[in-house]
Amino acid sequence: MSEAPPASTPSSYLGPARVFSGMQPTGGLHLGNYLGALVKFVRLQDTQDCIYCVVDLHAITADANPATLAQQTREVAAAYIAAGVDPKKSVIFVQSAVLAHTELAWIFNCVARMGWLERMTQFKDKAGKHAERSSVGLFDYPVLQAADILAYKATHVPVGEDQKQHLELSRDIAQKFNNDFAAPGFFPLPEPLIQGPGARIMSLRDGKKKMSKSDPSDASRINLTDDADAIAQKLKRATTDPHPLPETVEGLEGRPEVENLIGIYAALANVDAAAVLAEWGGKGFGAFKPALADLAVARLAPIAGEMRRLTADPAALDAILRDGADRANAIAAPIMDDVRRIVGFWR
Ligand code: TYM
Repeated sequence: MSEAPPASTPSSYLGPARVFSGMQPTGGLHLGNYLGALVKFVRLQDTQDCIYCVVDLHAITADANPATLAQQTREVAAAYIAAGVDPKKSVIFVQSAVLAHTELAWIFNCVARMGWLERMTQFKDKAGKHAERSSVGLFDYPVLQAADILAYKATHVPVGEDQKQHLELSRDIAQKFNNDFAAPGFFPLPEPLIQGPGARIMSLRDGKKKMSKSDPSDASRINLTDDADAIAQKLKRATTDPHPLPETVEGLEGRPEVENLIGIYAALANVDAAAVLAEWGGKGFGAFKPALADLAVARLAPIAGEMRRLTADPAALDAILRDGADRANAIAAPIMDDVRRIVGFWR
């Protein structure tokens, strides 16, 4: 029997606001990761206390790949910095370098209920028909995610729409911990920051499928490491329909591929879909796609160049990541001391 999640009551948390987010080092990052999350990481660091993690512990829940994991971890860190996350303003670090994540995940394993995790759609999607052959880690993935956030008492989490359910689970775990251990307001109930036209970028081949690293077709996504030619080619070949662009947002109904391209344009140009349609409504894709390609190349090509420069000097990246781990540890250590005391561990 699964216990129902605690009713969502307003948090009595009174601590400071803090932003936390992370990305998995499994294969290269793509336009969805950039528009759904990275752009927000950069924007938030000017006004908030921000912690950005490369979640290598999550990366081994599916296929372990020891030969490439460290390199891919550096690549994600390089993408953060190349996109504009400033290691002086924000903490950038690797999850496995801070032990608080695994310790708190264990404690949360004993707070979260099986029934809550059984409802996670991402597990169902990733495990497919072979749930019994999936790793326990894949099932437990969202509990570790809750630990990532709450080890720092983070209050706000910039993510794409696909992480909404995991964030709800993080809130349920925080609330149940506070209730079970009679520690009202100890953990904040973290808020997802999802809004914006980039929250759900779809495949360039199929407007009903999310743009994803795991799609076998490379033409379905724009990788952050793609060069200008590849970006332009993929956008020009993106699936559309023979009709001109609609004049209004309502006209996008039932045209998911068109809606996706408009969303990408809007996110890259930092406007809303209505503004894009005010300019392009009634025109054809023959004119729109090259303009979209130019916009994408102007935004993404400098990031790819900067990523190449950063990954060519792994020692410099490692120094940034070590400094980030020290700073992350310093924030998590007193919180974990309190957690151990609250749980009643021998000390
Ligand atoms: P990951 O590595 O799959 O994706 C990283 C971020 O990119 C967003 N994203 C997208 N946004 C818009 N459109 C898309 N097509 C798209 N694809 C991916 C994701 O929503 C995410 O924000 N579980 C997380 C990593 C994680 C995490 C955390 C995030 C681990 N611990 C703690 C926040 C806080 C994940 O797998 O992201």
